[in-house]
Amino acid sequence: MLETIKEWRRLLQARKWMKQNASFLPAWHAYVGYESDLFDAFAEGEEAATVAANRGLDPQLLQNWIDTGLVLGHLSRQEERIQTAPTMLQYVSKSSPQSVGALLHEMMELHIPTLLRFPELLKGEQKPSFENEKFGSTVAATSSLLEKLAFPKVSHWVKNSHAQSVLDIGCGHGGYLLKLATKIEGLKLIGIEQNEDVVLQARKDTSSSPDVSIEFVHGDFRQWEGPGEPVDLIMMNNILHYFSPDQRGVLLDRARQLLSKNGSVSMITPLYMTSSGKAFSAAFNNFMSSHENLYGFPTEAELETIAGEHGFRVKEKHPVIREGSWYFVGLEQA
Ligand SMILES: C[S@@+](CC[C@H](N)C(=O)[O-])C[C@H]1O[C@@H](n2cnc3c(N)ncnc32)[C@H](O)[C@@H]1O
Repeated sequence: MLETIKEWRRLLQARKWMKQNASFLPAWHAYVGYESDLFDAFAEGEEAATVAANRGLDPQLLQNWIDTGLVLGHLSRQEERIQTAPTMLQYVSKSSPQSVGALLHEMMELHIPTLLRFPELLKGEQKPSFENEKFGSTVAATSSLLEKLAFPKVSHWVKNSHAQSVLDIGCGHGGYLLKLATKIEGLKLIGIEQNEDVVLQARKDTSSSPDVSIEFVHGDFRQWEGPGEPVDLIMMNNILHYFSPDQRGVLLDRARQLLSKNGSVSMITPLYMTSSGKAFSAAFNNFMSSHENLYGFPTEAELETIAGEHGFRVKEKHPVIREGSWYFVGLEQA
């Protein structure tokens, strides 16, 4: 009798883990559709055999992917023709300007493979190096997805501080600077970015707004001599994980040297283990600390301490995405 109960319990546990894993399926399906341009292939409605033949794809695997998409509602069928659901076409196709596919790319090609190496890393295997040159464009693209929510907080801080000049460290594609340029007249704007592809994209994005003038510097902030004259505001958006706890102090010291007398710092950053963002920030810090050259995000208390030790005070802190543990943090000089 006892053995039977044990077996039932074991079965229920197995079922629980299987069910939890089922939630991975939509992300996997969307990722494959994005990477292999399959949502575009079925945009107008097409037969599976035609797509397999035209694109040289394995017909059996394609059929399995289609069957899964039909189950998930990512695709629909009319007789023999398969068609992509409108939301998938809009948000998960490479050709759509509203695509969030870069996020799936980052999750599947960066986060999950790294997290799967955890057992070896725990045993002391050499941590991999995050390849910023290879993944820089993806990471810059996914960070910029936050801008819509984060920008109003940044803009508010810039306006309230009456800044005339802004430096963005690790500016990525320059989205924050571009938005500031269009929202507040007369600002002097400088961005520094170490990844060459990313900085080229930032210059390209800005060139489509002829009235906007932003200086983009290609280089590593740690070796940069600075902008020549003091700036009123320094942005550090989504860059803390590139700096070890010690280097964060150096970053703040250098920022203080470059700031004008009443100059301030604004940050958009995840914080570790905030009350409503525990799960997300746990996943993030597992990923970051699995690399030899990335570092987990600080807790709120750690950020306050390091700011205090390097001549700053946390003046404002507001959630940008609560469940993601993403915050706006405004620092003033102490
Ligand atoms: C996660 S992205 C964030 C981009 C942008 N700030 C945003 O929030 O959308 C971080 C960027 O910082 C750049 N970066 C990291 N360390 C840097 C450094 N020491 N100097 C210049 N850029 C750096 C990376 O190349 C990357 O493009």
